[in-house]
Amino acid sequence: MSENVWGIVVAAGSGSRFGSPKQYEVLRGRRVLDWARQAMRTNVEGVVMVVPEDRMGKLEPGANAVVAGGATRSASVRAGLSAVPDRVEIIVVHDAARPLARASLVALVIEAVRNGADAAVPGLEVTDTIRSLDGGVLDRSQLVAVQTPQAFRADVLRRAHEGEPEATDDAALVEAIGGTVVVVDGQPDNFKITTPTDLKIAGLLLG
Ligand code: CTP
Ligand code: MG
Repeated sequence: MSENVWGIVVAAGSGSRFGSPKQYEVLRGRRVLDWARQAMRTNVEGVVMVVPEDRMGKLEPGANAVVAGGATRSASVRAGLSAVPDRVEIIVVHDAARPLARASLVALVIEAVRNGADAAVPGLEVTDTIRSLDGGVLDRSQLVAVQTPQAFRADVLRRAHEGEPEATDDAALVEAIGGTVVVVDGQPDNFKITTPTDLKIAGLLLG
């Protein structure tokens, strides 16, 4: 366990593409968000669980704090930040919808921040050819597919969220204020559950 490191698990999405809040589906006897929280647990002192407004008041085992999320992922991260103690130096943000992330990946991003980065994100090389809808193929050697868990210097993450900016991940916000973002080796099977097919695949991999 790392002192002065806390985690935020964002679990307040509605799962519009899935058809329901996918983070509450059960996978091999545990909810998807429990798998996500457990990957964090060995590496952090405390975990903030950010849940949909209508789940507030329900027991959330393994969480040090439970807060209601916002209308967007960025707003939900900000809600989580409000429950992280001020003394905390490193914050790890993780999607509840990624049940396959391993504790070793959490350790890897934390280590990169300890070594001086403002932010560390897992990235995978892109294997498909990526074509723009406007036409033209992007140079895939210059692209990485970014995952969570993402680790941050706490002060930088808080500053990046000032003014309530929006982005699909927090590293983009850190970069927007001039912070350094390091990419570590991602975990190939750490995909995000987006559709019911993803849930089936995750079940097979955890079985
Ligand atoms: N999330 C959140 N608060 C929001 C939106 C998303 O906490 N307002 C969380 C989701 O619960 C998920 C993670 O952010 O763990 C990544 O989001 P995504 O995969 O897009 O989940 P949803 O937004 O729930 O799905 P969809 O976009 O299909 O509606
Ligand atoms: Mg979403």
